[in-house]
Amino acid sequence: MRIKTLRGFKDILPDEIAIWQFIEENAKKIFESYGFCEIRPPILEYTEIFTTGLGSTTDVVEKELYTFEDRDGSSVTLRPEGTAGIVRSFIENSMHLKSPINKLYYSGPMFRHERPQKGRYRNFYQIGAELFGSYEPQYDAELIVMIWKLFESIGISTLLNIEISTLGDYNCRPNFKNELVNYFNNVKEKLCDECNRRLNLNPLRILDCKNPDCKVLAKDAPSILDLLCSECNDHFNTVKEYLDQLDIPYQINPYIVRGLDYYTRTVFEITTDKLGTQNAVAAGGRYDGLVKQLGGPEQPAVGFAMGIERIVLLLKDTKSDMIGKNVDLYIAYFDENHSRFAFETANKLRNKGIVVDIDYNNKSLKSKLKRANKLSSKYTIIIGEEELKRGKIKIRDMNLGSEEEIDFKDIEKIAEKILH
Ligand code: HAM
Repeated sequence: MRIKTLRGFKDILPDEIAIWQFIEENAKKIFESYGFCEIRPPILEYTEIFTTGLGSTTDVVEKELYTFEDRDGSSVTLRPEGTAGIVRSFIENSMHLKSPINKLYYSGPMFRHERPQKGRYRNFYQIGAELFGSYEPQYDAELIVMIWKLFESIGISTLLNIEISTLGDYNCRPNFKNELVNYFNNVKEKLCDECNRRLNLNPLRILDCKNPDCKVLAKDAPSILDLLCSECNDHFNTVKEYLDQLDIPYQINPYIVRGLDYYTRTVFEITTDKLGTQNAVAAGGRYDGLVKQLGGPEQPAVGFAMGIERIVLLLKDTKSDMIGKNVDLYIAYFDENHSRFAFETANKLRNKGIVVDIDYNNKSLKSKLKRANKLSSKYTIIIGEEELKRGKIKIRDMNLGSEEEIDFKDIEKIAEKILH
């Protein structure tokens, strides 16, 4: 038996959890202030939701799905991302009939069989949001503002860049694809094998190739921004104008192609130069055709997802004080006979909202104070025979080292001192 996680999977241990909760709580507060409601879809879906939804020639579908046969013989897949499953839920629950605009957010584990490295795992967590029911570009801008607000509120926006672009729509993108195929056909022999294969299947992916030769060629490739139809051009200009109105800093990067095929018009990535090659902390865009493609009504949509592990990596440097426990009070007693008293006192103080830790063993005062220090407890109550006889307990302020005796029946006063 191997007592070991799978490659690319990891435990999120208690000493890191305060940072995770800090991100999740801020996201909840900010997303809800924009009218988003949480949705919790299952993590396992029928495989065709992803093969149809994400595009059959994407890396995620071609190489990275965790797919297996269910007991009834159907093919099922652990979700590699959130959007396709949310779209399935949107259609299945006819959400468009209940509200003209639907704003949903989610968080949870995703699974992609990628080559693990710093910031890239096979089991990773995303927080994402999807908005259904409008073509209006103001929503695209509002989502980018919402992400930026979250990153400002958790203190990492100075480490990040917003990159935006557009991929055009079903009108102008075919023309762009043709131009790309013509351009790359002329330099075919300089492209890597993978890009030669992509040339006819999915030429946009060549723009995202990491091979240095392909990168050089991509720099001179036709730009979608020169080939947009007037509707897509206007749409993109409005997104930019609304971002400008709130002074959101962004750069235009016409090379954003995204790894999933469902995008139309606006696409964006929030990147950092602090994480090496896995530089995208959040990404998303508009996908006006996906609901229909998966069998639903005509419902445009826009959304994004952020990788929690990558945000945690950025926060670990700045928020190292959040790592570890945050105990208000440690209770130390030495005489077995005081165990019940300690048990009851801890209970009363927890009822007052105080974070209390206690060890039910009979170790020495020295070792118990050591433990209180290890827990970074702000106060320690020391229960001793002498004090109890006088109706008192001793409270030690662990930062100042000072001690005070308080009437042990006066729980209000003890709580007040600890919470002050
Ligand atoms: P994505 O770009 O594939 O988009 O992933 C979004 C974010 O998830 C990335 O920017 C990254 O932070 C994180 N991420 C992706 N793969 C990994 C991995 N293997 N390990 C760690 N983090 C990872 C989507 O998933 C789309 N569903 C986003 C979206 C929502 N578009 C519209 N709505």
